[in-house]
Amino acid sequence: MKKITIAIDGFSSTGKSTLAKQLAKELGYIYVDTGAMYRAVTYYAMQNNYINHEEFNQQALINDLSKITLTFQFNPNLGFAEMYLNDVNVENEIRTIEVSRFVSKVAEVSQVRAKLVEQQQEMGKNKGIVMDGRDIGTVVFPEAELKIFMTASAQTRAQRRYDEMVEKGQPVSYETVLENVQQRDYIDTHREDSPLVMADDAIEIDNSHLSREEQFQVVLDLVNNI
Ligand code: DC
Repeated sequence: MKKITIAIDGFSSTGKSTLAKQLAKELGYIYVDTGAMYRAVTYYAMQNNYINHEEFNQQALINDLSKITLTFQFNPNLGFAEMYLNDVNVENEIRTIEVSRFVSKVAEVSQVRAKLVEQQQEMGKNKGIVMDGRDIGTVVFPEAELKIFMTASAQTRAQRRYDEMVEKGQPVSYETVLENVQQRDYIDTHREDSPLVMADDAIEIDNSHLSREEQFQVVLDLVNNI
């Protein structure tokens, strides 16, 4: 079967990565979580104290961009690729609420976006890829054969993220997670460079009331009809 490019965009915690991983596994495609890349750059900025609750030294981060290497390495035990920042596995470090607090700020920086978009386009140049993010169908792969835009209510999404964090033993309150989800929605949709918008030719899926399996079947049917 002809390999295609699948772009999955949408709000935070809509289950984009769950769906993307399922699809990649089923189709034998590469899966790329672009949010992990923005998170890894954010983690780098935090480690170097370029960003904290008081200030964000954008210029210092921009100056360091050539020193930041991001790679994905497949972990056969987990069945998906983990994020490496300058050859160090940061998969757990980038999922904390602290990183979630700062990542939208870092994702607003055009120079950061340009670097990551270039790398993403390179990774997908041979197709056979499922990529999830915010700007995949609009900026990274406007020619993608299938574009999905995922939505769900902020409360549903916060509950999912909260359950995930509790399961990982990360202490956090539901209210904090909800606040973070709403804050990120606002910043992601209002930023100047590549704001989160649905591509004209994307198919919207509201999964507030869909199980993982139902959602997967809906999208698999779409793939099979291309
Ligand atoms: O998918 P996620 O929640 O892990 O993404 C983290 C942040 O990164 C999100 O708040 C916005 C940003 N992001 C982006 O701007 N563009 C992408 N393609 C992916 C993520």
